Amino acid sequence: MSTRTPLIAGNWKLHNTVAESRALAGAIAAHVRDGSGCDVVLGPVATSLTAVKQALDGSAVGLSAQNTHWEDSGAWTGELSPALLLDAGCGYCFIGHSERRQFFGETDAGVRKKVAALLAHEIVPILCVGESLEQREAGQTLDVVLGQVEAATEGLDAGALAPLVVAYEPIWAIGTGRTAKAEDAQDVHGAIRGHLSELKGKSWADSVRLLYGGSVKPNNADELLSQPDVDGALVGGASLSADNFIPIIDAGVRRAES
Ligand code: 13P
Repeated sequence: MSTRTPLIAGNWKLHNTVAESRALAGAIAAHVRDGSGCDVVLGPVATSLTAVKQALDGSAVGLSAQNTHWEDSGAWTGELSPALLLDAGCGYCFIGHSERRQFFGETDAGVRKKVAALLAHEIVPILCVGESLEQREAGQTLDVVLGQVEAATEGLDAGALAPLVVAYEPIWAIGTGRTAKAEDAQDVHGAIRGHLSELKGKSWADSVRLLYGGSVKPNNADELLSQPDVDGALVGGASLSADNFIPIIDAGVRRAES
């Protein structure tokens, strides 16, 4: 179907002790076959990054942080940096999640600086974008989402952006059990790819992996992942148990095989 490797990422948000994180990562890693054709990434809380890295040792599963600052070091109390994430073994980092934009004052300008800093350290940014319910109902979905994508990639060319992943997560679908219809997700993903193509060139835009996030569950993953521009999923609640997350990984493997 597509030459893009599917990617299934688990966002554990503010959940799991070190021991719980280690056990969950081990259970998931035991299921993931090297060469399955689907990439799998886990995003634990920062205090569990090192333990999860150890639990994933020798497996094909990647490690993601949930946020970063843009500077490497300095007087930035409470922050983590791309250099330290690399030191902890992260290959990925979520950026601009709606919870950070809503509750922690994250701005488009800050998101852009973080994306650039991660790319400079060869950490793959998983850039999160998405509209609120009010914005959707006002017909502003594409304005909002394409605006966020444009702001986060401003001044960076296709070469610099090469590994970027974009996750479309409608805010009204996060943690609500209300998923976007597969065709609606496809419409937004198609528009994101089209906009990236206009901004940065078609060949890179065609290679960018676009994930859908927002109440992805075992029973809706196949339908979402059967859409041409839905290259994977960013999973919250269902990534907190191996029993729920593994069937979603299997849906990613089926997409790779289709
Ligand atoms: P849920 O899967 O719990 O809706 O969360 C989605 C999300 O925010 C992933 O980043």
